Amino acid sequence: MSFTNRQLLLKTRPEGLVSRDNFELREQPTPELQDGQALVRVLYLSMDPTNRVWMSDVPQYMPPVAIGEVMRGIGIGRVVASEAKHYAVGDLVQGLVGWQDYALLDEGKTGYWAKLPPKPPVALPTLLGACGFSGITAHYGLTEIAPVQPGETLVVSAAAGSVGSIAGQIGKLRGARVVGIAGGAEKCRHLIDDLGFDAAVDYKADDFKQQLAAATPDGVHVNFENVGGPVMRAVLSRMVNGGRVALCGLIANYASGGKPSDDYSVIIVKRLTVRGFLAFDYKDQQGAVQDLVGWVVSGKIKAGETVADGLENAPTVLNRLFDGSHTGKLVLRVSDED
Ligand SMILES: NC(=O)c1ccc[n+]([C@@H]2O[C@H](COP(=O)([O-])OP(=O)(O)OC[C@H]3O[C@@H](n4cnc5c(N)ncnc54)[C@H](OP(=O)(O)O)[C@@H]3O)[C@@H](O)[C@H]2O)c1
Repeated sequence: MSFTNRQLLLKTRPEGLVSRDNFELREQPTPELQDGQALVRVLYLSMDPTNRVWMSDVPQYMPPVAIGEVMRGIGIGRVVASEAKHYAVGDLVQGLVGWQDYALLDEGKTGYWAKLPPKPPVALPTLLGACGFSGITAHYGLTEIAPVQPGETLVVSAAAGSVGSIAGQIGKLRGARVVGIAGGAEKCRHLIDDLGFDAAVDYKADDFKQQLAAATPDGVHVNFENVGGPVMRAVLSRMVNGGRVALCGLIANYASGGKPSDDYSVIIVKRLTVRGFLAFDYKDQQGAVQDLVGWVVSGKIKAGETVADGLENAPTVLNRLFDGSHTGKLVLRVSDED
């Protein structure tokens, strides 16, 4: 059985934000399956800041996507045909599906694929966000990289986004005083009223630094950093001596080529420990997922997603990570679940 597969191929490397013109939309029939292969209908694509990094020819933790290659992307899909021993038609799977309607699953490359339970305990988009890679990242950052202690002040940047919203809520569960940084009054209200943060600071406001100082009267013990640039600089200036930074991401750099900070002397003066990390390295991902699912199902943590539609819109939807026009996990629905 063959299907028409629409694929988004990287045509040119974007400068700044991504444009549709950076991609070619190609249609071609799905290939005949070989032994050990299954065909996966893509249901949801995870829209990740790292997609933007993968488009750039800069040093990074995986090779950049080559010109002419299908855009790399994490997603969830359903097996629609199978010649693989361990995958049957109907199975839900998660992996590097790519920006396309159908992905070829190769049993030999198991590292890239995970089978999901037939009836997942949470909605599929949540498995890409709070109970997926974003949640795992937040869990890793605050339990192993910079474990926050009860009574300490934790500051989280990009706090209304996917990783940040979970990091802040995990901080609350660990007994910290949690301050979120986000763009705009509505996101700040959301952090306090809906997610239970102790305080929120609008980095787009003229008095950002004064707001941050007022929200951190005892200084900052732990910074879960997602942004870099002026936001990170302002937080570092509020750190206590011996403070710890879980350096998760530097989204302010990804589309601009900017530098996180011109002045690192604060790291010396305040004897800070700054530790970069990649969630891929987390040894106990299953344990983290169990915690996260438990917290979401019991209502201890609120999961939120913004779901956009249409494979062809992937390049422009990705830009919402950079203009902030989403809350929680940004997900693209490629096809209906049924
Ligand atoms: N280390 C790891 O293993 C790992 C894994 C996953 C993600 N990450 C990193 O975690 C960070 C968050 O990723 P995510 O998937 O959860 O995305 P997200 O937070 O859902 O979306 C990105 C958010 O960043 C904020 N932002 C964008 N440009 C900004 C700028 N110039 N200055 C200040 N804020 C800006 C926007 O929020 P506002 O509306 O508030 O501006 C936007 O909503 C990224 O840096 C990503 O690379 C790291």
